[in-house]
Amino acid sequence: MHPSDGALPNAHCCFLFQNEICVSRLLIRKNHPLDPWLSAADVALRTLFATPLAAEASPAAAVTEGALQPEERRLSGALMRVNHVGEVCAQALYTAQATVTRDTGLREHLREAAREETDHLAWTRARLDALGARPSVFNPLWYAGAFALGAVTASVSDRVSLGFVVETENQVSAHLGSHLQRLPADDLASRAVVGRMKADEERHAAQARAAGALELPFAARALMRAAARVMTGTAHHF
Ligand SMILES: [Fe+2]
Ligand SMILES: [Fe+2]
Repeated sequence: MHPSDGALPNAHCCFLFQNEICVSRLLIRKNHPLDPWLSAADVALRTLFATPLAAEASPAAAVTEGALQPEERRLSGALMRVNHVGEVCAQALYTAQATVTRDTGLREHLREAAREETDHLAWTRARLDALGARPSVFNPLWYAGAFALGAVTASVSDRVSLGFVVETENQVSAHLGSHLQRLPADDLASRAVVGRMKADEERHAAQARAAGALELPFAARALMRAAARVMTGTAHHF
């Protein structure tokens, strides 16, 4: 058999006749050290430039879109832009941690969490479109910052990495709670999305705690809150 026949040779033939094909087949089977990083680059490009697809229908689909005044629509758009940035960062954080950890069980846990966060990403993006608002122009910057933080904490230890997840999810949950106070009463669709996300983030924090997260020191938590204030303040407008 020869490759020009149009069929792939089996492993035996390949060793006999086509050493270069053997090499390529072995490379396909063996994990390459760059694979996780190429996969991380794929997630980054899809998060920043593709339309995210949710596995589960948005909670907004279950309620009627409210009639909003222009000012209310602007406020909802700004708040949902901030929430969309949070989900962009969640993709970066979980992807970085899954890329760096050497624990295969933890890697799968983080990837599963990232898949759930993809629903949040899709739901918030859909709300932006429905409200006529745009995503933050600084999303690539937020993504890069969150990825770097996730990679650094994951390189310290898995328990620190999980501690970072707990603190992030707690802060995001508190933030979503404040948005439920600020969103216009008639924006039932955004409220449904934010309420569901808040419950999911609280569950993510509990899961990371159960997986052995270390509590971060007060200074680290304060620094994270300060960085989040800069990010949310900027994303509200840009
Ligand atoms: Fe989320
Ligand atoms: Fe989360």
